[in-house]
Amino acid sequence: MDRHSGSPRWSRAALVAVAGMLVACSEPPAPSIDADDRALVALGKRLYASHCARCHGADLAGQPNWRQRRADGRLPAPPHDASGHTWHHPDAMLFGMVKEGFMTGVHAPAGYLSDMPAYGGLLDDREIAATLAYIKSTWPAEQRRHQAKISRQAGN
Ligand code: HEC
Repeated sequence: MDRHSGSPRWSRAALVAVAGMLVACSEPPAPSIDADDRALVALGKRLYASHCARCHGADLAGQPNWRQRRADGRLPAPPHDASGHTWHHPDAMLFGMVKEGFMTGVHAPAGYLSDMPAYGGLLDDREIAATLAYIKSTWPAEQRRHQAKISRQAGN
């Protein structure tokens, strides 16, 4: 038997593995959203006040009746405090939602209409992470623990 008969299969597998690594590398990981990083949280607090508070509230309480779609089919802005569900999402998902918004077909079905802007063109990655680090820093210990756990489980 030709001892090289298995090699084309191996080289194809190797190529697939290398291609997979290249794809994985071309997508930069979301920056760390560390709510214990005081400089990051301070930056996020300023950015939250100027970019997010008008919809999500200076006190993070969101807009009234945030669970009810308006007549135009859009949702009011949800709270970011413990009464909302921001803390039910892992870091990378939160980062993507703020960077891409809800109308790219990634975080909601294609054609979904949302008031949530995409901040990718307005804030850099560290600034986006900062707004989320600030939001996280306001959560009680229970929400912090839960969100840290699901982020770890999601590999963030
Ligand atoms: C013009 C209003 C508006 C502004 C400004 C705004 N948002 Fe939103 N945001 C929304 C709405 C509305 C939703 C609900 C998304 C939907 O389903 O349409 C949302 C959803 C979110 C979510 C997902 C929450 C969840 O529980 O799923 C996050 C995270 C978020 N916003 C963060 C931010 C941050 C951070 C900023 C500032 C950088 C910001 N938003 C600015 C309106 C706004």
